Amino acid sequence: MNQIKDISAFFSSRRSISVKNLNYPGPNHNQTMAILKNALRVPDHGKLEPWRIVLISGDHKKNFISIIEKRGKEIDIDPLKIEKNKANLLGTPIILAVICSPSISSKIPKIEQILSCGALCMNILNNFLVKGWGANWLTGWMANDKKFGELAFNNTKNEFVAGYIYVGSYEVINPDRPRPSLDEKISYFK
Ligand SMILES: Cc1cc2nc3c(=O)[nH]c(=O)nc-3n(C[C@H](O)[C@H](O)[C@H](O)COP(=O)(O)O)c2cc1C
Repeated sequence: MNQIKDISAFFSSRRSISVKNLNYPGPNHNQTMAILKNALRVPDHGKLEPWRIVLISGDHKKNFISIIEKRGKEIDIDPLKIEKNKANLLGTPIILAVICSPSISSKIPKIEQILSCGALCMNILNNFLVKGWGANWLTGWMANDKKFGELAFNNTKNEFVAGYIYVGSYEVINPDRPRPSLDEKISYFK
């Protein structure tokens, strides 16, 4: 674990760690809570806090996996994919399910609440990375299937899984992927 001291060096080279390269040990409970406390500092129009986080770790992974197996079968998910999902879960110490809980009655548009949840996912990812942990934000069918969210997290009809942040230690850093070109992405309003 290599904690980053220079924050601008962190931002110039930060990258997720492939879930295949995440290993034990993961952060302990106190470390996880300290990181999540910082990660909760996200922009949130109207202070609605339209998100929540469910930790999946230790022996409780078994219950999560049994929901994956049962629901995966019901909706014909390729058994090979289920095996991969299970291997990823068991091979990673902590998985954080980030649930977006937009308030429909609020005057703050739903899209802004969803954007705040995306900001939270990114902040969780970066807060683990900056502390030297490996992390990766994944979705897939376990995020996109509404019924899965109900079974696993008691999601209400307005809630959905914004992502799973997988967290662990790592030794292998995957090569960086091509990054966007500043010239192509920035224009000047005239
Ligand atoms: C909302 C969202 C969902 C993603 N879901 C997946 C996924 O299910 N499987 C996958 O291989 N990558 C997925 N990715 C991409 C991974 O997070 C990928 O590792 C990421 O692009 C690495 O970017 P970084 O190195 O800049 O952190 C997703 C990315 C986002 C933003």
